[in-house]
Amino acid sequence: MAMLRPVGSRVPRPDEADPHQPLPWQDDYQTWCMGSGTEALSAAVSLATLCAGRQQGVTPEVILPAYGCPDLVAAVVAQGAIPVLVDLLPDRPVMDIDRLTEALSEATVAVIAAGFLGVPERLSALAGVCKSHGIWLIEDSAQCFPPDCAREPMADCAVLSFGRGKPINLMGGGALLVRKDHGDFATRVFADLPEVTVTLDGHWKLKRYIFNFLLSRLGYGLLRRVPFLGLGSTVYKPLDSVRRIQLPGGLLAAGIRTASLRPSVAKQYDQALAFLVSRGWVLFMRSHAQQNGSIVPVTLRYGLLAPDQGTRDTAASMLNSRGIGANAFYEKALPDVAGVGEALGTISGSYPNAVFFADRLVTLPSHEDVAYGDVTLVASVLDKLTQVPEE
Ligand SMILES: Cc1ncc(COP(=O)(O)O)c(C=O)c1O
Repeated sequence: MAMLRPVGSRVPRPDEADPHQPLPWQDDYQTWCMGSGTEALSAAVSLATLCAGRQQGVTPEVILPAYGCPDLVAAVVAQGAIPVLVDLLPDRPVMDIDRLTEALSEATVAVIAAGFLGVPERLSALAGVCKSHGIWLIEDSAQCFPPDCAREPMADCAVLSFGRGKPINLMGGGALLVRKDHGDFATRVFADLPEVTVTLDGHWKLKRYIFNFLLSRLGYGLLRRVPFLGLGSTVYKPLDSVRRIQLPGGLLAAGIRTASLRPSVAKQYDQALAFLVSRGWVLFMRSHAQQNGSIVPVTLRYGLLAPDQGTRDTAASMLNSRGIGANAFYEKALPDVAGVGEALGTISGSYPNAVFFADRLVTLPSHEDVAYGDVTLVASVLDKLTQVPEE
């Protein structure tokens, strides 16, 4: 059956007219293209660790949210550092800054501020904490575009991902943006990294063609019938190397242009699903838009919280049966993702808000192929599910 994919935008054709357009952050940040977002994040951790110059024998620690992508843990562990998790604020995909302050130690070298589904972390509050402790603020903007640091250079560095399901899909790769005051240092540290060149040969073109077909309703409907692909499942993958990549001129420019032009359906969801609030749901992306006086620039998916896990699971399966690719995203808080517990080593704790968030999150597609009819279908399915039966 045809199905509206949960996430992902088409791989663009490289811009031939103007391959060297200025990057939105280039006044304040250097750009280092890396093998993936995870590699870029790991390179950021290596810079922060070297810059902190901690004493011999002290293992560096890096702070990150207790709910999110397990690649954050892999990026930190690959640099021999310890990931220290911080719980979320209730019902919001952002860290609790009081808990974060308690988690700081002499060994802390950096805080990773990970944007979620297009909603950036609160960089200015986090930059204040980092500055007063002499540690780096790393903006992980893998799920957001443009990175918030392009607005104001608060983060020491920022990470972009060009993988599938990201705002700019180049079928792989990532970038590390290093603020110019750390530029000479980064140039020395990265001089010896191996470099791979991406070429837009026949193989790349065929892959792009197939990839884009699989994003269609028919293509995705067929793809999800292949059981061994484990589409959408959350797994911990250790990172074993960090490489630089040379992207062909015009490819990143095309990605930036298409992401910037992409229409957002977030506002339509905000309006169509507003009735859920009185039925115990939380539209946390709507609150973000209201607080910031605008909608989120690129909404990777539209996330909302059901009142409980059972309702979330029923909602996702009812929507799937109507051809809407809704899902629970990571499903679990980081310590509960297979393989992450071992990678975290001895540091453990309890993260009730992250667990409660993971149990209730449902994400809805919000890419360029979501039509108004899809939004109204989602609203009518969720209305039916949540109606209180009359006495
Ligand atoms: C917040 C976040 N950071 C980093 C990454 C890693 O990016 P990549 O898949 O390009 O390695 C992801 C991937 O999903 C992510 O969501």
